[in-house]
Amino acid sequence: MQIRTRSGGHDYEGLSYFSNSEVPFVIIDLINLREIEIDVEKSTAWVQSGATIGEVYYRIRQKSKNLGFPAGVCPTVGVGGHFSGGGYGFLMCKYGLSADNIIDARIIDVNGRFLDRQAMGEELFWAIRGGGGASFGVIIAWKIRLVKVPSIVTVFRVPRTLEQNATKLIHKWQLVANKIDKDLTIRINLQRVNKKNSSKKNMELTIQATFESMFLGGINNLIPLMQKNFPELGLVREDCIEMSWIESVLYLAGFTSDQPHEVLLNRTQSYMFFFKGKTDYVRDPIPDFGLKGIWPIFYENEAKNAIMILNPYGRKMDEISESEIPFPHRDLDIGMNNNVGYTSYKQARVWGLKYFKNNFNTLVHVKTKVDPLNFFRNEQSIPSLISK
Ligand SMILES: Cc1cc2nc3c(=O)[nH]c(=O)nc-3n(C[C@H](O)[C@H](O)[C@H](O)COP(=O)(O)OP(=O)(O)OC[C@H]3O[C@@H](n4cnc5c(N)ncnc54)[C@H](O)[C@@H]3O)c2cc1C
Ligand SMILES: *[C@@H]1O[C@H](CO)[C@@H](O)[C@H](O)[C@H]1NC(C)=O
Ligand SMILES: *[C@@H]1O[C@H](CO)[C@@H](O)[C@H](O)[C@H]1NC(C)=O
Ligand SMILES: *[C@@H]1O[C@H](CO)[C@@H](O)[C@H](O)[C@H]1NC(C)=O
Repeated sequence: MQIRTRSGGHDYEGLSYFSNSEVPFVIIDLINLREIEIDVEKSTAWVQSGATIGEVYYRIRQKSKNLGFPAGVCPTVGVGGHFSGGGYGFLMCKYGLSADNIIDARIIDVNGRFLDRQAMGEELFWAIRGGGGASFGVIIAWKIRLVKVPSIVTVFRVPRTLEQNATKLIHKWQLVANKIDKDLTIRINLQRVNKKNSSKKNMELTIQATFESMFLGGINNLIPLMQKNFPELGLVREDCIEMSWIESVLYLAGFTSDQPHEVLLNRTQSYMFFFKGKTDYVRDPIPDFGLKGIWPIFYENEAKNAIMILNPYGRKMDEISESEIPFPHRDLDIGMNNNVGYTSYKQARVWGLKYFKNNFNTLVHVKTKVDPLNFFRNEQSIPSLISK
């Protein structure tokens, strides 16, 4: 039997509770291990793997208004999968990924040993901060470094359609979004909308780009920053809302900021639907004609509910080397392991190098050392060099 470890159950390909083959498996569900202990003085916390990031945000806020943590947007994501795979969100450009802010961990290895950072050693500690936990053991808890957030942050959500120059704005955004002040993150959500919303008969489609943003500071500092770097968007004070950091967490997750903070503790996703997610990295700005080539695809029938999210990296992310942690970006259709029987290094490196780049070989080295017989495996786990 295989082992499938589940924390928040948000794996994009369902690998924590599903198998692509007939191989039977056992689910280790960490839902009941979700204690969070916060040390405000040291700005650290121990978080058990079954906690969600919503619970982490909520517990931090209970202890301090001026501490936060860089992690994802959707509060129901679990820290077991999220922290071991990277974890990005609106604080990334200032503080890096969740995985960049892990300072200790507790894991149960293939021999049933309970190990902290010192006992597991730096190689395994490196591997589980971005290399995914599922290849190496069962992570029980993380020690994280909390980060400073100001008492007031500002959010805005500004929609612009193609008729309102969305293509030009997206192009300009690509030139500035990864370079502006570290305190300002602007991402774009793209989807198709009806151009005329009065008569349903005459539905003409257009693309709407929603510029969604969080600024670690007040409106008075944000407006001049936008006027200097991105005046084309035409941001005005009326678009902006000042709030506390925890309220911005609610706002960006799609709640209204006046909802009780307790909604962050609810593990049931408010919207439930099936989707396929894919991620890619754009290193050079997509030219105008490239963007215009994408729009007709949104108008196809199958793309009715398609969403494209553009996230800026840069700033803090530029300061961290590619091998500091093995941060990946996940998709099964770049290649898979054999689910039954042995997968060779040669076969796995087809997807592994795309996924982890040069960190793949180091991950294989760690895997061979800590789980040589490949007890912990799934469709995209790290292979061991031992063949039998
Ligand atoms: C709606 C939605 C929104 C998302 N938003 C963001 C976002 O804003 N930012 C972002 O970076 N990512 C985001 N993600 C991706 C998310 O971070 C990953 O899917 C993450 O792996 C989910 O973690 P989990 O614990 O909820 O998932 P699970 O399905 O429980 O686990 C994911 C993987 O990690 C393994 N695993 C889980 N727990 C452990 C453990 N304790 N020890 C060892 N291995 C373990 C599982 O076996 C599986 O392979 C989102 C995903 C969804 C579905
Ligand atoms: C779009 O851009 C053009 C040229 O740059 C400008 O004249 C026009 O006012 C803009 N339209 C809107 C709705 O902002
Ligand atoms: C649809 O109509 C409402 C109300 O008149 C308006 O506020 C909104 O901007 C319109 N949406 C689009 C995409 O034109
Ligand atoms: C949790 O969220 C779900 C989905 O939005 C909702 O149906 C349920 O009532 C919520 N539970 C609590 C305790 O608020």
